[in-house]
Amino acid sequence: MSVHDAPRRRLALGDLAAKKKDGEPIVMVTAYDHPGARIVDEAGVDMVLVGDSAAMTVLGYDSTVPVTVDEMLMLTKAVRRGLTTALLVGDLPFGSYEASDDIAIATAQRFVKEAGCDLVKIERGGSTVERARAIVSAGIPVVGHVGLTPQSATALGGYRAQGRTAEAALAVIDDALALQDAGCSLLVIEAVPAEVTAALMPLLSIPVIGIGAGADADGQVLVFHDLLGLYDGPAAKFVKRYADLRAAALAGVTEYAREVRSGEYPAPEHGYAMPAEQAERMRQLLAARAGVRHPGASPGAG
Ligand code: KIV
Repeated sequence: MSVHDAPRRRLALGDLAAKKKDGEPIVMVTAYDHPGARIVDEAGVDMVLVGDSAAMTVLGYDSTVPVTVDEMLMLTKAVRRGLTTALLVGDLPFGSYEASDDIAIATAQRFVKEAGCDLVKIERGGSTVERARAIVSAGIPVVGHVGLTPQSATALGGYRAQGRTAEAALAVIDDALALQDAGCSLLVIEAVPAEVTAALMPLLSIPVIGIGAGADADGQVLVFHDLLGLYDGPAAKFVKRYADLRAAALAGVTEYAREVRSGEYPAPEHGYAMPAEQAERMRQLLAARAGVRHPGASPGAG
């Protein structure tokens, strides 16, 4: 049965737990606008993340750090309006939750109240664990994010794989366990060796979504613009391109520009028709009006 034949109803958190239990892979993808949301929803994905990767994929920043809560909310609301079945995860941007539990709760509440998110995602272990616990106690389901956490890429030495030594791997695993203990409903693990994920999986009861973390996680997430070939910045090793939309878009817009310049577009079929007698009457009315405005001037003159 294809996803298009499957009964379409809005998914709930319990569905993800059931998929984990049944060993059915969970499909997650990012989206940042309404048409993108409609595409991924119709494709039957389980979860949609409006990631702060939006900073780079759609807003033109050179990292995820500058994006603001208001920018993220605008994008997240547009995605919400495009989803019918998938769960919606809002990504709390850098600087919007770290300073205190109260700030973390207030930001998370905005993503739920204003943008209709089902869950919110926050990055790192450390002090984030307490923020996760606070948001969960406020009644909002939380996704933890460990391994490569782009909001702290500078501190991590750049956008590079994490957990490549035994000690570093244990640090990633400890972050994951602490976030589960804090009440997170789900975990994203990014850019770690497959061995780390394999070692972590038996220790966790919550669903784990991998990105560049091997095949042992309960599901996978990719960035919309990466998987469709829309982002022309450098791609991470784990990115697989399933389409080349940038090339198709570039070819389309180049052809449009050529046709406008050559006069091929618009052709008569791209316009609206007016009955010939109405066109003639319009010209007469205009001529009469010109005569009133400029007595003595010949029709059509200035
Ligand atoms: O911001 C994002 O898109 C993410 C995913 C890569 C997990 O955090």
